[in-house]
Amino acid sequence: MSRLLITGGAGYIGSHSAVVLSKIGHQVVLYDNLSNSSRAALENLDQIVGQHMPFVKGDVRNTELLASTLASHSIDAVIHFAGLKSVGESTDKPIDYYANNVQGAISLLQAMQMQRVTTLIFSSSATVYGNPQYLPLDETHPTSATNPYGRSKLQIEEMLRDVAKSDPNWRIACLRYFNPVGAHESSLIGESPTGIPNNLMPYIVQVAAGQQATLSIFGDDYPTPDGTGVRDYIHVMDVAEGHAAALDFLSKTNGWHAINLGTGNGRSVLEMVDAFEKASGRKVPYRVVARRVGDVAECYANPHKSDQLLGWKAARNLDDMCASSWQFHKATGLAVSQ
Ligand code: NAD
Ligand code: UD1
Repeated sequence: MSRLLITGGAGYIGSHSAVVLSKIGHQVVLYDNLSNSSRAALENLDQIVGQHMPFVKGDVRNTELLASTLASHSIDAVIHFAGLKSVGESTDKPIDYYANNVQGAISLLQAMQMQRVTTLIFSSSATVYGNPQYLPLDETHPTSATNPYGRSKLQIEEMLRDVAKSDPNWRIACLRYFNPVGAHESSLIGESPTGIPNNLMPYIVQVAAGQQATLSIFGDDYPTPDGTGVRDYIHVMDVAEGHAAALDFLSKTNGWHAINLGTGNGRSVLEMVDAFEKASGRKVPYRVVARRVGDVAECYANPHKSDQLLGWKAARNLDDMCASSWQFHKATGLAVSQ
């Protein structure tokens, strides 16, 4: 079992991954600047795993603090979730995105090099495929970026590839997540975006809870079966388990690896609304509005490589994703009667 540093460990995917990794016996240290998360999430994490997880409040651009954390906890491997993730915001604030994401990754690599820690899992995204040239998306599909967020992910992936080429001790996996949704079964941790949600699932949840009046569906004239956008939604606990499998894989393999974490199933916006209504027993009123700039018609994974290399496949279904999102929202006490 390994001693792991999880950057961004108080955030949505990082906290679920911390639970999975801790439950299977890894020793986890969390590192986060709490810019998009809270101490409450940390307390809930401790409650789920039944022990205290050491936490360091810090920015990943603080190389000294990272290096001393790696040394004092004798860290074997790092899982790097920390970063900014909003596509729209990245267009308005590109400097913040390159500073947090690209500069943050450089700082982490410097700290790892100093302490001779050479195993790294990086949170990448299906956004690195740009506008799909064919579907499903496999890892050999050409990469490109259409916004600063996506470009920051691509630049980090390329940097990591160079790092792995420079020294055979490096073991690096770039996990390209599709659309993580859902929450841990305890309903103690989940996705809680601040302000009006940009993404579909948190928005649907708020409409079902009566906090938003109507879901705006961004276009119903795409070349898809029902005209609405198609994505590969994947349960966040499956994504978390993908990290455990990737860590195991890296214990046996060196080099740089890009691996999709998706289900392989494309679901339309209308299918998501329908599934959510069934899982929650609530109505989700919607209206169709214009397409959102930058959206693609369809995006879903070819999950073959993760199955072959990691022996990992998404196990949870759409009902699990919707029901756990709804349970988490209800547990936060925000759902109003309908
Ligand atoms: P999140 O915002 O919930 O978690 C990110 C965490 O990183 C937060 O707790 C935040 O406080 C912390 N953080 C941000 N900048 C930091 C910095 N400079 N130093 C230290 N901590 C910092 O986001 P998430 O949804 O859990 O995403 C985790 C990672 O996965 C991100 O890198 C994101 O780009 C990537 N990703 C997410 C999705 C998704 O749909 N959620 C999809 C693809 C990729
Ligand atoms: C978006 C990002 C992507 C990022 C991902 C997870 C864009 C262009 N892409 O992906 O880079 O990795 O989030 O953070 O922002 N939809 C509606 N109404 C809404 C919200 C969404 O109809 O209120 C539709 C969208 O048009 C899309 C689908 O729902 O067809 C999913 O949208 P979303 O959850 O934002 O995810 P992506 O666009 O796939």
